[in-house]
Amino acid sequence: MTAFDPPGAATGAAPLPARGNPSHSAAAADPRGFYNDKVVQQFTIASIVWGVIGMAVGALIAAQLYWPALNFDTAWLSFGRLRPIHTNGVIFAFGGSALFATSLYVVQRTCHVRLISDKLASFVFWGWQACLVAAVVTLAMGLTQGKEYAEMEWPVDLMITVVWVAYGWLYFGTIAKRRVKHIYVANWFFAAYIITIAILHIVNNLAIPVSLGKSYPVYSGAVDAMAQWWYGHNAVGFMLTTSYLGMMYYFVPKQAGRPIFSYRLSIVHFWALISIYMWAGPHHLHYTALPDWVQSVGMVFSVILLAPSWGGAMNGLLTLSGVWHKLRTDPILKFLVVAISFYMIATFEGPLLSIKSVNSLSHYTDWTVGHVHAGALGWVAMITIGSLYSMFPRTLGLKAMHSIKLIDAHFWLHTLGVVFYIVSMWIAGITQGLMWRATNTDGTLTYSFVESLLATYPYYLGRLLGGLMVLAGMGLMAWNFWRTWQLVHEPVPQPVLAPHAAEALG
Ligand code: HEM
Ligand code: HEM
Repeated sequence: MTAFDPPGAATGAAPLPARGNPSHSAAAADPRGFYNDKVVQQFTIASIVWGVIGMAVGALIAAQLYWPALNFDTAWLSFGRLRPIHTNGVIFAFGGSALFATSLYVVQRTCHVRLISDKLASFVFWGWQACLVAAVVTLAMGLTQGKEYAEMEWPVDLMITVVWVAYGWLYFGTIAKRRVKHIYVANWFFAAYIITIAILHIVNNLAIPVSLGKSYPVYSGAVDAMAQWWYGHNAVGFMLTTSYLGMMYYFVPKQAGRPIFSYRLSIVHFWALISIYMWAGPHHLHYTALPDWVQSVGMVFSVILLAPSWGGAMNGLLTLSGVWHKLRTDPILKFLVVAISFYMIATFEGPLLSIKSVNSLSHYTDWTVGHVHAGALGWVAMITIGSLYSMFPRTLGLKAMHSIKLIDAHFWLHTLGVVFYIVSMWIAGITQGLMWRATNTDGTLTYSFVESLLATYPYYLGRLLGGLMVLAGMGLMAWNFWRTWQLVHEPVPQPVLAPHAAEALG
């Protein structure tokens, strides 16, 4: 029995009966219904549904950047309204729901205890979905604070605060009730993300409401910008990085069937990451009204961040030492390993972009968008998808998903889609940056803005193609989850006897 197994797993208690495909015989995941896996399954399904919606909106705005007429002259279909629906949709609805699902699954397995309250768990699920629906509706109506990744107006912010506190209560309450002394490292990463997001959300959204749909931030000028990018960068650091490292530290060893390469390194990784991330925010505000020294502090801390990021990534990859051959047959492991590789790409590129002279070329260009999606589609989405494929059948008492072949097809669609996306944006971004700064001998600009736009156009089509491949992969995933769910929940059809056979049987 490993530290991950539920109490009773070693006793050989009868597993759940599996119906349908005999290859899906039951796994001894939670034979006695010891854990609250209902909320885990709810959040998993929500994550996939929101993933399809959020990425479809992403594909639509990618298409709009190529064919602007696709907004059909309708306010709520305009790029300005759909873009925040995409960003919030993928970060907080797709990614957020997956984080709720995996953190609540992991905390129960590693603490050997059921969540402290089923009612609270249910409140967290429905409350979070209510926040997401309220966010989509208000953003579509054009109600926004105009702060990136914190666009929602104060009533939605308040709802988020209440649900987040309930989530923290559920998570930390379960840790407090644990039956094992040790707190497994994945929980440290999840805990840091839950605490930090609460602080960031409250501090950055402090505002004075003037009506139900309008408020003014308590900060102004450069201080407002600094608070926003302290929030923005740490949202990246904790909502898009630290939290997913929690997933990595549980699901990579679990799927590889090996212990984590170095437990000691994982603790160093944790403390280094959380103490450095907080200071890197000013790299979003280079060459602005922010004091020069603050920009330099941001740059230095960003460059230092490379070390813990790569150290942690190596810890994940080296966990596969001795079992690399499993990559040939296990597409879930492929998702997890390629996710870590993209994490390394994004955390190499990030420190590079934070160097002021490089940022003077990259800022305002599509290079930033390429970097974002190397992190978002490569790291965040792939570690999420791999973890959900690994976790979901276990919550149903099954050994595997309905179709391994479909997971493999998804892997290739997603990986190639991400490559199309980010390579297109790298070329587009660097072309834009170089064209904007090119000058003639008399000091005038060599290219007009429209010329740079024309040069970028083909790459927007490349990005759209990549996005559509990723979206198609999400479609396969949704279908595979549906079929897996049916294996357990749909009654097996009984063979119909021909009338004469029925008579013969009396
Ligand atoms: C089918 C997949 C996706 C497509 C086609 C797509 C497309 C886009 C497009 C067209 C933009 C606007 C770029 C601009 O303003 O110039 C964007 C922005 C963004 N997307 Fe995606 N996206 C996808 C998936 C994701 C995922 C899974 C995440 C996060 C987990 C994500 C996070 C973001 C963020 C954070 C931005 C804002 C970038 C910035 O401000 O620099 N996207 N996306
Ligand atoms: C060592 C780690 C990293 C560093 C130092 C870093 C640094 C940077 C820099 C310098 C920018 C451009 C700022 C600008 O010119 O406006 C940026 C943008 C961004 N990065 Fe990273 N990055 C790192 C890792 C990641 C990862 C893993 C993700 C995961 C998704 C990510 C997501 C983003 C996003 C969403 C933006 C766009 C923010 C905006 O809306 O302008 N970064 N990052």
